[in-house]
Amino acid sequence: MREVVIAANWKMHTTPADAGELARTIASRTREAGVTRVICPPFVCLGAVRDALADADPDVGVGAQNVHHELAGAFTGEIAAPMLVGLVTWAIVGHSERRRDAGETDALVARKVSRALDAGLRPIVCVGERLEDREAGRANDVVDHQVRGSLEGVEPVVARDAGLVIAYEPVWAIGTGRNASGLDAAAMTDAIRASLEGAGWGAVATETPVLYGGSVTSANIAEFLAEPSIDGALVGGASLKPDEMAGIVGRAGITARARGLAG
Ligand code: PGA
Repeated sequence: MREVVIAANWKMHTTPADAGELARTIASRTREAGVTRVICPPFVCLGAVRDALADADPDVGVGAQNVHHELAGAFTGEIAAPMLVGLVTWAIVGHSERRRDAGETDALVARKVSRALDAGLRPIVCVGERLEDREAGRANDVVDHQVRGSLEGVEPVVARDAGLVIAYEPVWAIGTGRNASGLDAAAMTDAIRASLEGAGWGAVATETPVLYGGSVTSANIAEFLAEPSIDGALVGGASLKPDEMAGIVGRAGITARARGLAG
């Protein structure tokens, strides 16, 4: 049975002074057997969150929101994957906000995925269509292209052993309060696994967790987790609110128990 993952993407929120306390509060409110929890704060808060969680709840993973595609060098302001070892065990890669604002292409994302894997990090690889793609009936094609491109050169068995996760995040649903329907999201997660199969991933395609992301809240999480092909959520805005996280992870616990993951 595939793992159930709830990952918090704090984006450009929190400071080193308050991030540890927020992480501690969320950790204490989300103890739910069988659910994998991850918090991805800004880089400057990673140390505070790692230290807070090591103390409060070492079961909560810490993740970066990005890694650079090179190992080291003259890249002012950037962070390479090997620098994160000891700080994080996860890394979000190819988030749509970075594809949009930092011009990240699928080819660049693929290099980042490889750097994350080489550093022993669990990548959360983000894909998702824009509104105009969906309205033009191109959502499947766009996401198929992103999945293949963003995982180019990644060995399926290496990805599986490292615990690589894919997040389907339709761009039009991110931060808009307009979530996809559970059915539409499930159709896309199925399509993502079909893309992986098409790319030669074989059985690993079925074993790879695929999350939904885009305006997930405690009020709509059930709609996504009712779909057997959706394995959790990448949560943005709601992930800064302990009440919301408690509701989201609580619902994920029901799925974890139904999947026999709760021990
Ligand atoms: P949102 O963000 O939950 O605020 O829509 C999700 C994401 O960008 O990962």
